[in-house]
Amino acid sequence: MVSYKELGLVNTREMFAKAIKGGYAIPAFNFNNMEQLQAIIKAAADTKSPVILQVSKGARNYANQTLLRYMAQGAVEYAKELGWENPQICLHLDHGDSFELCKSCVDFGFSSVMIDASSLPYEENIALTKKVVDYAHQYDVTVEAELGVLAGVEDEVQSEESHYTKPEEVIDFATRTGCDSLAISIGTSHGAYKFKPEQCTRDPKTGRLVPPPLAFDVLDAVMEKLPGFPIVLHGSSSVPQEYVDIINANGGKLPDAVGIPEEQLRKAAKSAVCKINIDSDSRLAFTAAVRKVFAEKPAEFDPRKYCGPARDLMYELYKHKIINVLGSDGKA
Ligand code: G3H
Ligand code: 13P
Ligand code: ZN
Repeated sequence: MVSYKELGLVNTREMFAKAIKGGYAIPAFNFNNMEQLQAIIKAAADTKSPVILQVSKGARNYANQTLLRYMAQGAVEYAKELGWENPQICLHLDHGDSFELCKSCVDFGFSSVMIDASSLPYEENIALTKKVVDYAHQYDVTVEAELGVLAGVEDEVQSEESHYTKPEEVIDFATRTGCDSLAISIGTSHGAYKFKPEQCTRDPKTGRLVPPPLAFDVLDAVMEKLPGFPIVLHGSSSVPQEYVDIINANGGKLPDAVGIPEEQLRKAAKSAVCKINIDSDSRLAFTAAVRKVFAEKPAEFDPRKYCGPARDLMYELYKHKIINVLGSDGKA
């Protein structure tokens, strides 16, 4: 058993309380490689933003959970080396799908876990979430739960239709499970294709898809039921069109990729939404930078010569999100 406290990590409790009071959101960035982690930590350190490092089940399988844990531990030291005296870094399991997985992360030094039982029937979601909460809270590890189903790919769970969170269920769910934060469904979804073209209109000048707005009425109703309770938004990449253009201009094929407009995320960040999950944008930045180097310098074969530019572009992306979308700069 390793306590996250020994590793210099923090849980989400205080981060979220401050974020709700201050009208900003904490960035939750997924990572599964060194360049992503370097870019996240440098962006957080340079802006003095609290940050949540997220590890999905897929990331654990890809990069090895032991290695990822030590990388997060190393990230705390790297942050200090960058001049961030008191780094506010949380290591979080993203979309945990079983008690065993959540327990293993708690035992292994994670400071926060998500149990995503949102695809189960309501009572089963409550029972599994409560089981995780009861275990995690013994070690002061915070727990995120989910109610409502996002459209698209949720790790291995496919959902054809999104089911918005039912505001009438949230008090019962939060009370009976004891969860520390709640991910809700208000129209965001995972990946780079968040809306089908038929759900969008098309800008006549640019030809780009214009997505439908998020269901802020559902968010408002949830906040009314649970005043001051930390709300989480998954699937919050904005799919920057400049990255999509670079990818498409350099041999890629991402037609009609579309995300959540940043103004809507800014609006959400000012409310009780205190954690915003971003993964796909980082993947797009990485891919755009790599494709550009490959196209412009076909003789290049030193990975540092294309992973380096990818890291630089991700750093700019994370900094932009922190300062211009989440408003978490200067809060740590
Ligand atoms: O919500 C899903 C995250 O973007 C993680 O994706 O399961 O491909 O690592 P992944
Ligand atoms: P995106 O695919 O929109 O980046 O969402 C990531 C996410 O929700 C991770 O849990
Ligand atoms: Zn997610």
